[in-house]
Amino acid sequence: MQASQRAIALIAEMIHTASLVHDDVIDDTSSRRGKHTVNKIWGEKKAVLAGDLILSVVSIGGAQTGNTAVISTLTRVIEDLVCGEFLQLGSKENEHERFAQYLEKTFKNTASLIANSCKAVSVLGCPDPVVHEITYQYGKNVGIAFQLIDDVFDFTSCSNIGKPTSADVNLRLATGPVLFACQQFPEMNAMIMRWFSL
Ligand code: FPP
Ligand code: MG
Repeated sequence: MQASQRAIALIAEMIHTASLVHDDVIDDTSSRRGKHTVNKIWGEKKAVLAGDLILSVVSIGGAQTGNTAVISTLTRVIEDLVCGEFLQLGSKENEHERFAQYLEKTFKNTASLIANSCKAVSVLGCPDPVVHEITYQYGKNVGIAFQLIDDVFDFTSCSNIGKPTSADVNLRLATGPVLFACQQFPEMNAMIMRWFSL
């Protein structure tokens, strides 16, 4: 493995960390990975700035690869993360669009990071665009699977995963389990829609 490929792993982890630092401000969360969040310890202003600082180091790291395809791939991740959060803040009136929107949101705010990081590593290791697409699709599927399970944990896990449970429910976010429940129990749709502001 080349040093530049290892750098992509560092950059991906830093983008992920910056997004979680900002996410904990948006969600007003006080614990993550079993520890107090940055916003809980230092307040929201410093948490936002800390996330920005991590992103600035990410930009330097990306530029140091000297590869414009890699830089634009990593920049796309940041764009997707922010657009995914905007999507999460919105809602869809049409129930047929809800699932598609949930999957689009899930791609943008979780899977894009893994998909594009895998792609960036392959771009640095091999010139074949077919390989780049395969690594992208692999990361995309891992990312979507990860988030679907994470959304189930919001309902089923106890506090030993290090972050509060029922956080999505309390934020009235309709994730996969809620959307499946709407499909399976149409008679409960009205009640579910009221709570989740669908
Ligand atoms: C966790 O979601 C959060 C994300 C997957 C992405 C958050 C993205 C932003 C706040 C946009 C800003 C991005 C950057 C790069 C600074 P969750 O709340 O569903 O999961 P959780 O239970 O782990 O909090
Ligand atoms: Mg959150």
